Amino acid sequence: MPPIVLQLLQGAGLTVFILAVLYFSKKLGVLKRVRGALVIATVLLAILLVSRLVHFPGQERVFTFDLGILVLIGVYIVLQVLDELIWEHVLKPKHISVPRLLFDVFNFVVLVGVGLALLKTLFDVNLTGFLVTSTVLSAILGLSLQDLLTSLMAGIALQIESPFQVRDWIRVGDKEGEVTQMNWRSITLRSRDNNNVIIPNSIIAKQDISNFSRPQKLQLVHVTVGVSYATPPGLVKGVISRAIADADGVAPTPAVQVFVKRFAESAVEYDLRFWIEDFERLNAISDSVQTRVWYALDRAGMAIPFPQRDVHLRTISEEREEREKARGREDVFRVLRQVTTFQSLSDSQIQILTGTARFERYATGEILVRQGEEGRSLFVIRSGTVSVERAGEAGSSQRMATLRAGDFFGEMSLLTGEPRSATVVSMSEVEVVVVDKSGVAAVLSQDQKLVKSLSDTLERRSRQLARTALEQQRLADVAAAEQVPLFLRIQRFFGIEN
Ligand code: CMP
Repeated sequence: MPPIVLQLLQGAGLTVFILAVLYFSKKLGVLKRVRGALVIATVLLAILLVSRLVHFPGQERVFTFDLGILVLIGVYIVLQVLDELIWEHVLKPKHISVPRLLFDVFNFVVLVGVGLALLKTLFDVNLTGFLVTSTVLSAILGLSLQDLLTSLMAGIALQIESPFQVRDWIRVGDKEGEVTQMNWRSITLRSRDNNNVIIPNSIIAKQDISNFSRPQKLQLVHVTVGVSYATPPGLVKGVISRAIADADGVAPTPAVQVFVKRFAESAVEYDLRFWIEDFERLNAISDSVQTRVWYALDRAGMAIPFPQRDVHLRTISEEREEREKARGREDVFRVLRQVTTFQSLSDSQIQILTGTARFERYATGEILVRQGEEGRSLFVIRSGTVSVERAGEAGSSQRMATLRAGDFFGEMSLLTGEPRSATVVSMSEVEVVVVDKSGVAAVLSQDQKLVKSLSDTLERRSRQLARTALEQQRLADVAAAEQVPLFLRIQRFFGIEN
């Protein structure tokens, strides 16, 4: 066969080979990751064949150089394909977790070995001299890279053990944050202050690690609160548990627990244990819990004593104590006097209401009155804003009104004995005057105008509540069946019919 035909055939064969490589590297998943290397290898192969067929100056050197790189790339491709096969078909199905880093280090060592062997065989480089120098060099390098190597080994150990993963919230020593990156040298944490904290693997290997995202996100949080020795622990536990059960960020289950922790110098210390799922918000959740505890204890008249080191002798005269109480009563009187609905009442009648009233303070987001519960008190807002919300079908709730200073609520249950018609939630810090049923009853029996104005408000609010046609119909039915105006029903309920 003439040489030109042979060359043409070889050229055509090479073209077919390159196209086949490109085609299969696209189709076969296992070849996808080495596609680039395959293309380079085929080009090098082509150059190798051409340098055999065509004569040109320096042909031998080009051939040797090309062959060396081709072998190196060939070994690289074989290693990568083997990695992929072992990873996908052996380790993954058996759920064996081996760090990628280990594969990479192995591949690197093999490639360096092959590279050195090629240097000796193809380029006749004297490796003995190189190795001697490299022993000295590696000793110097080893010492200076000691930390880096420890980090590398620790990185491999961390990946094998896998005590945490990216997106976990962890604490290493005194550093805390969300893991955003892990590599062969270090891990990066995003701290609560939104800083990146980079910790070398070598340091992590020597530290205690706490993982707050595993085995599950639920974490127990402890908060210590001191309450006066004067209050029985049973009562304190009840007030605190109720106050924090539905605080923002506290998981509904497991339930909140309150334990007496110790009898401290100036207070009985309680250990509040509650569960949270969002460890990132730990500070905000602890804040909401402790704020709730303060308000609940304040409402229940339970004092949180401040630490006392010195003995303070403070004598509060009975007279002064009486004066303070009177000032409190005056405050309540002033708030009640300003309520438009109570305008018909005389000062002495307002005094009667004041006698059974008290101040209560609530933090933002607390429930003052819960729909469906029994209610025996009327609330007058002194400061702040509350939202009146009515739960509908399928758990949805709708805001019925926003009430402000001077407004009152809670009259419906108080006047009719029916369960609370809506839930009232504080939208800001709120201070209210709570008037008891006994006070209202005493005044209602004296003042018909008050019964009228209260029943007017009640009727208006009930109409707003009965939004659905069904509810309106039900109310109409009840009214028709009873044939008794609301005004009279209230009088009957309080036993003040005349
Ligand atoms: P009560 O049913 O005792 O408890 C919930 C309170 O929300 C209710 O009394 C009313 O005082 C108040 N309330 C109910 N509906 C409205 C409304 N539409 N507008 C203003 N306040 C309301």
